[in-house]
Amino acid sequence: MKAVNVGICGLGTVGSGTFNVLARNATEINARAGHDIKVSHVGARRDNPACDLSGITVLRDVLAVCEVPEVDIIVETIGGCDIAKEVVLKAISNGKHVVTANKALIALHGNEIFAAAEAKGVAVYYEAAVAGGVPIIKAVREGLAANKIQWLAGIINGTGNFILTEMRDKGRAFDDVLAEAQELGYAEADPTFDVEGIDACHKLVILASLAFGIPLQFEKAYTEGISNIAQEDVIYAEELGYRIKHLGIAKRVEAGVELRVHPTLIPEKRLIANVDGVMNAVLVNADAVGSTLYYGAGAGSEPTASSVIADIVDVARLMDVEKEQRVPALAFHPGHLDVDDVLPIEEIETAYYMRLSAKDEPGVMSSITQILSDNGVSIEALIQKPVAADQDYAVVIILTNVVKEKAFNTALASIESLAAVAGSVNRIRVESLG
Ligand code: HSE
Repeated sequence: MKAVNVGICGLGTVGSGTFNVLARNATEINARAGHDIKVSHVGARRDNPACDLSGITVLRDVLAVCEVPEVDIIVETIGGCDIAKEVVLKAISNGKHVVTANKALIALHGNEIFAAAEAKGVAVYYEAAVAGGVPIIKAVREGLAANKIQWLAGIINGTGNFILTEMRDKGRAFDDVLAEAQELGYAEADPTFDVEGIDACHKLVILASLAFGIPLQFEKAYTEGISNIAQEDVIYAEELGYRIKHLGIAKRVEAGVELRVHPTLIPEKRLIANVDGVMNAVLVNADAVGSTLYYGAGAGSEPTASSVIADIVDVARLMDVEKEQRVPALAFHPGHLDVDDVLPIEEIETAYYMRLSAKDEPGVMSSITQILSDNGVSIEALIQKPVAADQDYAVVIILTNVVKEKAFNTALASIESLAAVAGSVNRIRVESLG
Protein backbone atom coordinates (compact mmCIF):
# COMPACT_ATOMS: atom_id res chain seq x y z
CA MET A 1 0.00 0.00 0.00
CA LYS A 2 1.19 3.49 -0.81
CA ALA A 3 2.29 5.45 2.27
CA VAL A 4 0.53 8.68 3.22
CA ASN A 5 2.41 10.86 5.68
CA VAL A 6 0.46 12.89 8.18
CA GLY A 7 1.71 15.83 10.22
CA ILE A 8 -0.36 16.59 13.30
CA CYS A 9 -0.16 20.21 14.46
CA GLY A 10 -1.40 20.53 18.03
CA LEU A 11 -1.32 17.65 20.52
CA GLY A 12 -4.06 18.67 22.95
CA THR A 13 -7.38 16.88 23.55
CA VAL A 14 -8.21 16.27 19.86
CA GLY A 15 -4.64 15.96 18.49
CA SER A 16 -3.66 13.35 21.08
CA GLY A 17 -6.89 11.40 20.51
CA THR A 18 -6.18 11.42 16.76
CA PHE A 19 -2.61 10.23 17.31
CA ASN A 20 -3.66 7.40 19.62
CA VAL A 21 -6.66 6.14 17.62
CA LEU A 22 -4.58 6.16 14.41
CA ALA A 23 -2.00 3.97 16.15
CA ARG A 24 -4.50 1.67 17.86
CA ASN A 25 -6.74 1.02 14.82
CA ALA A 26 -4.06 1.21 12.11
CA THR A 27 -5.00 -2.12 10.53
CA GLU A 28 -8.66 -1.25 10.01
CA ILE A 29 -7.96 2.36 9.05
CA ASN A 30 -5.35 1.42 6.43
CA ALA A 31 -7.58 -1.31 5.00
CA ARG A 32 -10.34 1.25 4.59
CA ALA A 33 -8.08 3.96 3.17
CA GLY A 34 -6.18 1.65 0.84
CA HIS A 35 -3.06 3.48 2.02
CA ASP A 36 -0.55 3.06 4.78
CA ILE A 37 -1.37 6.12 6.89
CA LYS A 38 1.54 7.12 9.06
CA VAL A 39 2.01 10.02 11.43
CA SER A 40 5.51 11.09 10.44
CA HIS A 41 5.61 14.48 12.20
CA VAL A 42 4.03 16.17 15.17
CA GLY A 43 4.13 19.90 15.80
CA ALA A 44 3.57 20.76 19.46
CA ARG A 45 5.03 23.19 21.94
CA ARG A 46 5.31 20.38 24.47
CA ASP A 47 4.88 16.58 24.50
CA ASN A 48 1.63 15.08 25.67
CA PRO A 49 2.19 12.22 28.14
CA ALA A 50 -0.89 10.49 26.69
CA CYS A 51 1.04 9.86 23.42
CA ASP A 52 4.02 7.59 22.79
CA LEU A 53 6.01 9.75 20.36
CA SER A 54 8.93 7.36 19.87
CA GLY A 55 9.90 7.18 16.19
CA ILE A 56 8.01 10.39 15.38
CA THR A 57 9.75 13.61 14.41
CA VAL A 58 8.54 16.23 16.88
CA LEU A 59 8.93 19.89 15.96
CA ARG A 60 8.29 22.69 18.45
CA ASP A 61 7.43 25.10 15.66
CA VAL A 62 4.08 23.98 14.24
CA LEU A 63 4.58 25.97 11.06
CA ALA A 64 7.75 23.99 10.35
CA VAL A 65 5.63 20.82 9.93
CA CYS A 66 3.98 22.49 6.92
CA GLU A 67 7.39 22.87 5.29
CA VAL A 68 8.35 19.17 5.47
CA PRO A 69 8.29 17.92 1.85
CA GLU A 70 7.28 14.32 2.65
CA VAL A 71 4.19 15.33 4.68
CA ASP A 72 1.06 14.86 2.53
CA ILE A 73 -1.70 15.82 4.97
CA ILE A 74 -1.60 18.44 7.71
CA VAL A 75 -3.98 17.83 10.60
CA GLU A 76 -4.71 21.10 12.40
CA THR A 77 -5.83 20.50 15.98
CA ILE A 78 -4.50 23.68 17.54
CA GLY A 79 -7.79 25.60 17.78
CA GLY A 80 -8.43 29.34 17.63
CA CYS A 81 -7.93 31.49 14.59
CA ASP A 82 -4.39 32.86 14.92
CA ILE A 83 -1.64 30.31 14.54
CA ALA A 84 -4.16 27.73 13.32
CA LYS A 85 -5.03 29.93 10.33
CA GLU A 86 -1.35 30.44 9.54
CA VAL A 87 -0.78 26.70 9.66
CA VAL A 88 -3.71 25.93 7.36
CA LEU A 89 -2.80 28.60 4.80
CA LYS A 90 0.87 27.63 4.90
CA ALA A 91 -0.03 23.96 4.38
CA ILE A 92 -2.25 24.87 1.41
CA SER A 93 0.37 27.11 -0.17
CA ASN A 94 2.84 24.23 0.12
CA GLY A 95 0.40 21.94 -1.73
CA LYS A 96 -0.63 19.86 1.28
CA HIS A 97 -4.14 18.63 1.99
CA VAL A 98 -5.63 19.78 5.29
CA VAL A 99 -7.87 18.17 7.88
CA THR A 100 -9.03 20.44 10.67
CA ALA A 101 -11.31 20.17 13.70
CA ASN A 102 -11.51 23.95 13.97
CA LYS A 103 -15.09 25.26 13.80
CA ALA A 104 -14.21 28.89 14.53
CA LEU A 105 -11.58 28.88 11.79
CA ILE A 106 -13.96 27.42 9.21
CA ALA A 107 -16.95 29.58 10.22
CA LEU A 108 -14.93 32.82 10.21
CA HIS A 109 -12.30 32.19 7.52
CA GLY A 110 -13.62 29.21 5.57
CA ASN A 111 -14.49 31.22 2.44
CA GLU A 112 -10.89 32.44 2.19
CA ILE A 113 -9.40 29.03 3.07
CA PHE A 114 -11.53 27.11 0.54
CA ALA A 115 -10.69 29.62 -2.20
CA ALA A 116 -6.98 29.18 -1.47
CA ALA A 117 -7.35 25.38 -1.45
CA GLU A 118 -9.31 25.44 -4.73
CA ALA A 119 -6.63 27.55 -6.39
CA LYS A 120 -3.93 25.19 -5.21
CA GLY A 121 -5.88 22.00 -6.01
CA VAL A 122 -5.79 20.60 -2.47
CA ALA A 123 -8.61 19.40 -0.21
CA VAL A 124 -9.66 20.89 3.14
CA TYR A 125 -11.94 18.63 5.21
CA TYR A 126 -13.43 19.46 8.59
CA GLU A 127 -15.89 16.79 9.77
CA ALA A 128 -14.78 17.19 13.40
CA ALA A 129 -15.71 20.88 13.38
CA VAL A 130 -19.41 20.14 13.92
CA ALA A 131 -20.89 17.79 16.53
CA GLY A 132 -17.61 16.06 17.40
CA GLY A 133 -17.89 12.39 16.51
CA VAL A 134 -21.25 12.60 14.70
CA PRO A 135 -20.62 12.39 10.93
CA ILE A 136 -23.14 15.16 10.25
CA ILE A 137 -21.08 16.99 7.64
CA LYS A 138 -20.75 13.89 5.51
CA ALA A 139 -24.47 13.20 5.94
CA VAL A 140 -25.55 16.70 4.85
CA ARG A 141 -22.88 17.08 2.16
CA GLU A 142 -23.15 13.63 0.61
CA GLY A 143 -25.92 11.50 2.12
CA LEU A 144 -28.61 14.13 1.46
CA ALA A 145 -27.28 15.25 -1.92
CA ALA A 146 -30.60 14.41 -3.62
CA ASN A 147 -32.62 16.77 -1.45
CA LYS A 148 -33.66 20.37 -1.10
CA ILE A 149 -32.97 20.89 2.57
CA GLN A 150 -35.68 23.04 4.19
CA TRP A 151 -34.42 23.40 7.73
CA LEU A 152 -32.16 21.90 10.33
CA ALA A 153 -32.07 22.24 14.08
CA GLY A 154 -29.27 21.02 16.28
CA ILE A 155 -28.01 20.64 19.80
CA ILE A 156 -24.46 21.35 18.77
CA ASN A 157 -22.75 22.41 21.96
CA GLY A 158 -22.19 19.60 24.44
CA THR A 159 -21.22 21.87 27.32
CA GLY A 160 -24.44 23.90 27.08
CA ASN A 161 -26.56 20.77 26.81
CA PHE A 162 -24.77 19.25 29.81
CA ILE A 163 -25.52 22.40 31.85
CA LEU A 164 -29.23 22.46 30.90
CA THR A 165 -29.60 18.74 31.58
CA GLU A 166 -27.99 18.91 35.03
CA MET A 167 -30.06 21.99 35.93
CA ARG A 168 -33.25 20.16 34.98
CA ASP A 169 -32.49 16.70 36.39
CA LYS A 170 -30.53 17.56 39.50
CA GLY A 171 -31.37 21.19 40.17
CA ARG A 172 -27.64 21.96 40.06
CA ALA A 173 -26.35 25.51 39.82
CA PHE A 174 -25.16 26.81 36.45
CA ASP A 175 -21.57 27.64 37.51
CA ASP A 176 -21.07 24.33 39.26
CA VAL A 177 -22.00 22.33 36.15
CA LEU A 178 -19.88 24.56 33.90
CA ALA A 179 -16.84 23.92 36.12
CA GLU A 180 -17.38 20.18 35.74
CA ALA A 181 -17.66 20.49 31.94
CA GLN A 182 -14.33 22.35 31.96
CA GLU A 183 -12.69 19.62 34.05
CA LEU A 184 -13.98 16.95 31.64
CA GLY A 185 -12.39 18.79 28.69
CA TYR A 186 -15.71 19.57 26.94
CA ALA A 187 -15.71 23.33 27.32
CA GLU A 188 -13.90 25.78 25.05
CA ALA A 189 -10.74 27.53 26.28
CA ASP A 190 -13.04 30.51 26.80
CA PRO A 191 -16.27 28.92 28.14
CA THR A 192 -18.34 31.98 27.26
CA PHE A 193 -18.12 30.58 23.72
CA ASP A 194 -20.17 27.63 24.99
CA VAL A 195 -22.70 29.38 27.22
CA GLU A 196 -23.27 32.41 25.00
CA GLY A 197 -23.86 30.26 21.92
CA ILE A 198 -20.83 31.41 19.92
CA ASP A 199 -19.45 27.90 19.54
CA ALA A 200 -22.87 26.59 18.47
CA CYS A 201 -23.17 29.49 16.04
CA HIS A 202 -19.83 28.61 14.42
CA LYS A 203 -21.16 25.11 13.84
CA LEU A 204 -24.60 26.27 12.68
CA VAL A 205 -23.10 28.58 10.07
CA ILE A 206 -21.11 25.66 8.65
CA LEU A 207 -24.16 23.38 8.54
CA ALA A 208 -26.29 26.06 6.89
CA SER A 209 -23.73 26.58 4.13
CA LEU A 210 -23.60 22.85 3.45
CA ALA A 211 -27.38 22.51 3.54
CA PHE A 212 -28.36 25.52 1.44
CA GLY A 213 -25.32 26.08 -0.77
CA ILE A 214 -24.59 29.56 0.60
CA PRO A 215 -21.23 31.08 1.60
CA LEU A 216 -20.27 31.07 5.29
CA GLN A 217 -21.82 34.14 6.94
CA PHE A 218 -21.10 34.03 10.66
CA GLU A 219 -21.44 37.78 11.10
CA LYS A 220 -25.10 37.70 10.02
CA ALA A 221 -26.25 34.95 12.38
CA TYR A 222 -28.13 35.70 15.61
CA THR A 223 -26.74 34.33 18.86
CA GLU A 224 -28.26 34.21 22.34
CA GLY A 225 -26.84 32.23 25.26
CA ILE A 226 -28.30 30.17 28.08
CA SER A 227 -27.09 32.18 31.04
CA ASN A 228 -30.52 33.80 31.54
CA ILE A 229 -32.42 30.53 31.75
CA ALA A 230 -33.94 30.32 35.23
CA GLN A 231 -34.72 27.11 37.07
CA GLU A 232 -38.41 28.07 37.12
CA ASP A 233 -38.52 28.32 33.31
CA VAL A 234 -37.18 24.78 33.11
CA ILE A 235 -39.96 23.66 35.48
CA TYR A 236 -42.79 25.59 33.76
CA ALA A 237 -41.63 24.33 30.36
CA GLU A 238 -41.91 20.76 31.66
CA GLU A 239 -45.41 21.46 33.00
CA LEU A 240 -46.43 22.58 29.52
CA GLY A 241 -44.95 19.46 27.89
CA TYR A 242 -41.76 21.09 26.63
CA ARG A 243 -38.00 20.87 27.22
CA ILE A 244 -35.62 23.82 26.95
CA LYS A 245 -32.70 23.14 24.61
CA HIS A 246 -30.02 25.45 23.28
CA LEU A 247 -30.70 25.03 19.58
CA GLY A 248 -28.99 26.19 16.44
CA ILE A 249 -31.66 26.64 13.77
CA ALA A 250 -31.17 27.22 10.05
CA LYS A 251 -34.29 27.58 7.97
CA ARG A 252 -34.88 28.47 4.35
CA VAL A 253 -38.00 30.63 4.04
CA GLU A 254 -39.39 32.63 1.15
CA ALA A 255 -37.68 35.86 2.19
CA GLY A 256 -34.24 34.33 2.80
CA VAL A 257 -32.45 32.24 5.39
CA GLU A 258 -32.94 32.25 9.17
CA LEU A 259 -29.72 31.56 11.08
CA ARG A 260 -30.17 31.65 14.84
CA VAL A 261 -28.86 30.12 18.06
CA HIS A 262 -30.97 30.58 21.19
CA PRO A 263 -32.62 28.68 24.04
CA THR A 264 -35.73 27.03 22.61
CA LEU A 265 -38.77 25.24 24.01
CA ILE A 266 -39.38 22.05 22.03
CA PRO A 267 -42.12 19.46 22.59
CA GLU A 268 -40.85 16.78 24.96
CA LYS A 269 -42.15 14.03 22.65
CA ARG A 270 -39.59 14.89 19.96
CA LEU A 271 -36.57 12.55 20.01
CA ILE A 272 -34.22 15.54 20.00
CA ALA A 273 -35.84 16.85 23.19
CA ASN A 274 -34.45 13.78 24.93
CA VAL A 275 -30.84 14.32 23.91
CA ASP A 276 -29.14 14.91 27.22
CA GLY A 277 -25.76 15.59 28.79
CA VAL A 278 -22.83 16.25 26.52
CA MET A 279 -24.50 14.47 23.58
CA ASN A 280 -25.26 16.33 20.36
CA ALA A 281 -28.01 15.80 17.80
CA VAL A 282 -28.99 17.41 14.54
CA LEU A 283 -32.45 17.07 12.99
CA VAL A 284 -32.56 17.75 9.25
CA ASN A 285 -35.75 18.26 7.27
CA ALA A 286 -35.46 17.72 3.54
CA ASP A 287 -37.98 17.38 0.73
CA ALA A 288 -37.31 13.85 -0.51
CA VAL A 289 -36.27 11.98 2.63
CA GLY A 290 -38.33 13.89 5.23
CA SER A 291 -36.77 14.24 8.68
CA THR A 292 -33.55 12.48 9.64
CA LEU A 293 -31.82 12.67 13.02
CA TYR A 294 -28.11 12.33 13.74
CA TYR A 295 -26.98 11.71 17.32
CA GLY A 296 -23.78 11.05 19.23
CA ALA A 297 -20.91 12.39 21.28
CA GLY A 298 -20.37 16.04 20.41
CA ALA A 299 -17.08 16.55 22.21
CA GLY A 300 -14.22 14.67 23.79
CA SER A 301 -10.87 13.36 22.66
CA GLU A 302 -11.58 10.10 20.85
CA PRO A 303 -15.10 10.90 19.53
CA THR A 304 -13.66 14.01 17.86
CA ALA A 305 -10.62 12.04 16.69
CA SER A 306 -13.02 9.59 15.03
CA SER A 307 -14.18 12.40 12.72
CA VAL A 308 -10.66 13.72 12.12
CA ILE A 309 -9.50 10.27 11.06
CA ALA A 310 -12.54 9.73 8.80
CA ASP A 311 -11.40 12.87 6.96
CA ILE A 312 -7.81 11.59 6.75
CA VAL A 313 -9.14 8.37 5.19
CA ASP A 314 -11.24 10.38 2.71
CA VAL A 315 -8.29 12.54 1.75
CA ALA A 316 -6.03 9.49 1.33
CA ARG A 317 -8.62 7.95 -1.01
CA LEU A 318 -9.11 11.16 -3.00
CA MET A 319 -5.64 12.66 -3.14
CA ASP A 320 -4.84 11.26 -6.59
CA VAL A 321 -8.25 12.21 -8.00
CA GLU A 322 -8.68 15.34 -10.17
CA LYS A 323 -9.98 18.21 -8.01
CA GLU A 324 -13.21 18.48 -10.05
CA GLN A 325 -14.07 14.92 -9.05
CA ARG A 326 -13.52 15.48 -5.33
CA VAL A 327 -16.33 16.21 -2.88
CA PRO A 328 -16.55 20.04 -2.74
CA ALA A 329 -15.64 21.72 0.54
CA LEU A 330 -19.09 23.31 0.95
CA ALA A 331 -21.10 20.51 -0.69
CA PHE A 332 -21.84 22.61 -3.79
CA HIS A 333 -19.10 23.16 -6.36
CA PRO A 334 -17.62 26.69 -6.28
CA GLY A 335 -19.58 28.82 -8.74
CA HIS A 336 -22.82 27.20 -7.61
CA LEU A 337 -23.07 28.92 -4.23
CA ASP A 338 -26.08 31.26 -3.89
CA VAL A 339 -25.94 34.43 -1.87
CA ASP A 340 -29.28 34.12 -0.09
CA ASP A 341 -30.21 36.90 2.32
CA VAL A 342 -29.71 36.02 5.97
CA LEU A 343 -32.69 37.58 7.70
CA PRO A 344 -32.24 39.93 10.66
CA ILE A 345 -33.72 38.44 13.84
CA GLU A 346 -36.69 40.87 13.77
CA GLU A 347 -37.79 39.23 10.50
CA ILE A 348 -37.86 35.62 11.71
CA GLU A 349 -41.13 33.89 12.55
CA THR A 350 -41.53 31.68 15.58
CA ALA A 351 -43.74 31.08 18.63
CA TYR A 352 -42.91 32.34 22.13
CA TYR A 353 -43.06 31.36 25.79
CA MET A 354 -43.46 34.36 28.13
CA ARG A 355 -43.14 34.45 31.91
CA LEU A 356 -44.16 37.61 33.74
CA SER A 357 -45.21 38.83 37.17
CA ALA A 358 -48.57 40.62 37.08
CA LYS A 359 -50.37 42.40 39.91
CA ASP A 360 -53.28 40.34 41.19
CA GLU A 361 -56.05 42.85 40.43
CA PRO A 362 -59.01 43.07 38.02
CA GLY A 363 -58.31 44.01 34.40
CA VAL A 364 -54.59 43.19 34.28
CA MET A 365 -54.97 39.99 32.33
CA SER A 366 -57.30 41.63 29.83
CA SER A 367 -54.79 44.47 29.28
CA ILE A 368 -52.08 41.93 28.52
CA THR A 369 -54.20 39.88 26.14
CA GLN A 370 -55.43 43.08 24.43
CA ILE A 371 -51.84 44.18 23.74
CA LEU A 372 -51.04 40.78 22.28
CA SER A 373 -54.12 40.85 20.10
CA ASP A 374 -53.43 44.44 18.94
CA ASN A 375 -50.05 43.26 17.65
CA GLY A 376 -51.39 40.16 15.91
CA VAL A 377 -50.01 37.78 18.54
CA SER A 378 -52.46 34.98 19.24
CA ILE A 379 -52.38 32.96 22.42
CA GLU A 380 -51.91 29.18 22.38
CA ALA A 381 -52.00 28.66 26.16
CA LEU A 382 -52.17 30.84 29.26
CA ILE A 383 -51.55 29.79 32.84
CA GLN A 384 -51.80 31.93 35.95
CA LYS A 385 -50.13 30.44 38.99
CA PRO A 386 -52.01 30.87 42.30
CA VAL A 387 -50.76 33.92 44.19
CA ALA A 388 -48.86 33.07 47.36
CA ALA A 389 -50.52 34.40 50.54
CA ASP A 390 -47.73 36.90 51.21
CA GLN A 391 -47.42 38.22 47.61
CA ASP A 392 -49.26 40.75 45.43
CA TYR A 393 -48.00 39.43 42.12
CA ALA A 394 -48.99 36.32 40.20
CA VAL A 395 -46.74 34.44 37.81
CA VAL A 396 -48.31 34.31 34.37
CA ILE A 397 -47.08 31.98 31.63
CA ILE A 398 -48.21 32.54 28.05
CA LEU A 399 -47.49 30.45 24.97
CA THR A 400 -48.13 32.26 21.70
CA ASN A 401 -48.71 31.05 18.17
CA VAL A 402 -46.16 31.75 15.43
CA VAL A 403 -45.67 35.47 14.78
CA LYS A 404 -43.01 37.75 13.32
CA GLU A 405 -40.41 38.65 15.96
CA LYS A 406 -40.81 42.38 15.26
CA ALA A 407 -44.53 42.29 16.17
CA PHE A 408 -43.83 40.20 19.24
CA ASN A 409 -41.14 42.66 20.42
CA THR A 410 -43.59 45.55 20.11
CA ALA A 411 -46.16 43.67 22.21
CA LEU A 412 -43.50 42.72 24.75
CA ALA A 413 -42.38 46.33 25.21
CA SER A 414 -46.00 47.46 25.75
CA ILE A 415 -46.65 44.71 28.29
CA GLU A 416 -43.46 45.60 30.18
CA SER A 417 -44.59 49.22 30.35
CA LEU A 418 -47.83 48.32 32.17
CA ALA A 419 -47.76 49.54 35.78
CA ALA A 420 -49.28 46.23 36.86
CA VAL A 421 -46.41 44.19 35.39
CA ALA A 422 -43.30 43.94 37.55
CA GLY A 423 -39.84 43.87 35.99
CA SER A 424 -39.09 42.48 32.57
CA VAL A 425 -40.84 39.65 30.77
CA ASN A 426 -38.78 36.52 30.32
CA ARG A 427 -39.28 35.16 26.81
CA ILE A 428 -38.02 32.02 25.14
CA ARG A 429 -38.68 31.08 21.54
CA VAL A 430 -40.69 27.93 20.84
CA GLU A 431 -40.27 25.56 17.89
CA SER A 432 -42.49 22.57 17.15
CA LEU A 433 -39.88 20.84 14.89
CA GLY A 434 -42.75 19.00 13.28
N1 HSE B 1 -16.95 23.11 23.55
C1 HSE B 1 -17.52 22.27 22.55
C2 HSE B 1 -18.78 21.63 23.11
C3 HSE B 1 -16.52 21.23 22.14
O1 HSE B 1 -18.99 21.67 24.31
O2 HSE B 1 -19.57 21.10 22.33
C4 HSE B 1 -16.86 20.50 20.88
O3 HSE B 1 -16.93 21.35 19.78
